[in-house]
Amino acid sequence: MTKTLAELRSRRWFAASDMRAFAHRQRIQQMGLRREDVMERPIIGIINTWSDLSPCHAHLRERAESVKRGVLMAGGMPFELPAMSLGEVMVKPTTMLYRNFLAMEVEELLRSLPLDGVVLLAGCDKTTPGTVMGAISAGLPTLFCPAGPMISDRYLRHGQPPRVIGAGTHTRMFWDEYKAGRIPEDEWVQLEAKMTRAPGTCNTMGTASTMTCLVEALGLMLPGAAAIPAMDSAHTRMATDCGEHIVQMIWQDLTPARILTRGAFQNALVVQMALGGSTNAVVHLIAMARRAGVDLTLADMDAVAARVPVLANLFPSGNKLMEDFYYAGGVPALMNRLREHLSLDELTVTGATLGKNIDGRPSLDDDVIRPVDQPVSTAGALAVLKGNLAPDGAVMKPSAADPKFFKHRGRVLVFDSPLQMNERCADPALDCDENTVLVLRNAGPVGAPGMPEWGGLPIPKRLLDRGVRDMLRISDARMSGTHYGSCVLHVSPEAAIGGPLALVQDGDEISLDLEARRLELHVDEAEMARRRAAWVAPVQPYARGYVKLYQQHVTQAHEGCDFDFLQGAAPTPEPAIY
Ligand code: FES
Repeated sequence: MTKTLAELRSRRWFAASDMRAFAHRQRIQQMGLRREDVMERPIIGIINTWSDLSPCHAHLRERAESVKRGVLMAGGMPFELPAMSLGEVMVKPTTMLYRNFLAMEVEELLRSLPLDGVVLLAGCDKTTPGTVMGAISAGLPTLFCPAGPMISDRYLRHGQPPRVIGAGTHTRMFWDEYKAGRIPEDEWVQLEAKMTRAPGTCNTMGTASTMTCLVEALGLMLPGAAAIPAMDSAHTRMATDCGEHIVQMIWQDLTPARILTRGAFQNALVVQMALGGSTNAVVHLIAMARRAGVDLTLADMDAVAARVPVLANLFPSGNKLMEDFYYAGGVPALMNRLREHLSLDELTVTGATLGKNIDGRPSLDDDVIRPVDQPVSTAGALAVLKGNLAPDGAVMKPSAADPKFFKHRGRVLVFDSPLQMNERCADPALDCDENTVLVLRNAGPVGAPGMPEWGGLPIPKRLLDRGVRDMLRISDARMSGTHYGSCVLHVSPEAAIGGPLALVQDGDEISLDLEARRLELHVDEAEMARRRAAWVAPVQPYARGYVKLYQQHVTQAHEGCDFDFLQGAAPTPEPAIY
């Protein structure tokens, strides 16, 4: 399949002989460009999620220049387009509230402007699914250029061996140590400057690295790109390659619709499980798949999780960082290890199949990318739970949890808000022990709103002081992909719309049976009916604006949390030419 100059989408803007086309060409020349720059070349949009408050993307302005260089060398014409940046740790209450906003922005930018293809510059958590979802719906040839993980650092303590440290997982670990009084104040302050020493995304297998690796597995990225450290010169060269390659993709008409098949999503699931990837990928993959017209369900994910072990020895399931994964060969090497589980004939952005892309890409470090018979964990990267507490499902990451909670029954402590949770957990007299089940509700897509990463509920202070580091915790929230613990997440339907989680009371008992995939609240049906009749929905203070739109249209976690009116692959008409 090849395209000619006359068939380019941008010709609708520039090549006509009417007054509007005259104005388009005129305004291009107003910017100092030449008429032939837009008349004789494919036009490439570079969606850039850089901003001064997006530390993981601090280098993306420079990378955009590299992409432009590649586009120009290949005979295209680049235009950089800023989009919402969503720096994960700066945005409150959560970037998840704005993922769909970014997706809408990207889709409408691509549709409304004279573009033939797009390079997406993103990587920090929600920016990856947000930009990809928008690009899928816009339908233009799309190439994802990942921000790349940050480089690692060392934590040196006198008299102790040096420890390699990264972002996210280590923050949580050190915070627990600090709260337990095991890290002095001056060292705690020094650690602020240690864990995130350079631009780039979190370097554990958190949500950012999970999502960029999955986009590579889907076939939307140049092979090996996801693991290249942001501050490596190879990253700059990769960005130039992206610019050069998108031009070829336009001539080949390599659109997402040709790449994102059910087989491609199955491949992404295999990689998600082998990475021990973030549970956040569950909602993002479902949302992306639905945009592509693929019906991906929690049951599909549980089935893949049951047969694919965790092979990538990366925090939080293992003990290495993304830099190690890069040296070991990255996603192509991991996928090469998993050939028997993959659909190798899927088309990718290279124009070749996945199988061809990963041929001859062995693991270069078997401690980082483990052989199939020496997995990091056989507990699985994901388990989908159902039961009377989660009729539409909930998820857990067994590979990052303490196995002693895989079959557990305990008395419940329930919190209605993070504020209440933090106050009660700080109380040294809180009535709880290590078998208590902690529950947080009203933290889902509608309730919070935006389903923040509050699902790694804190261990109560009195138990922390006794050395307790994990407990069974349940919520309708998400959890940061860099975190660990026995946390049941994404309980659906959520409490704020009347899901069973809303009816739980202190002192109830909840049981988890991981093997049976069951999550049950042990309260009889008559009592549940009484509580249901008495339940009153939490008051929502949002009477206007984007958040009101969000609460009216967001779908539940098991459906991907996309807006109901954005789902599906139904074609949207091209803008009118006048
Ligand atoms: Fe940006 Fe973790 S904060 S990737």
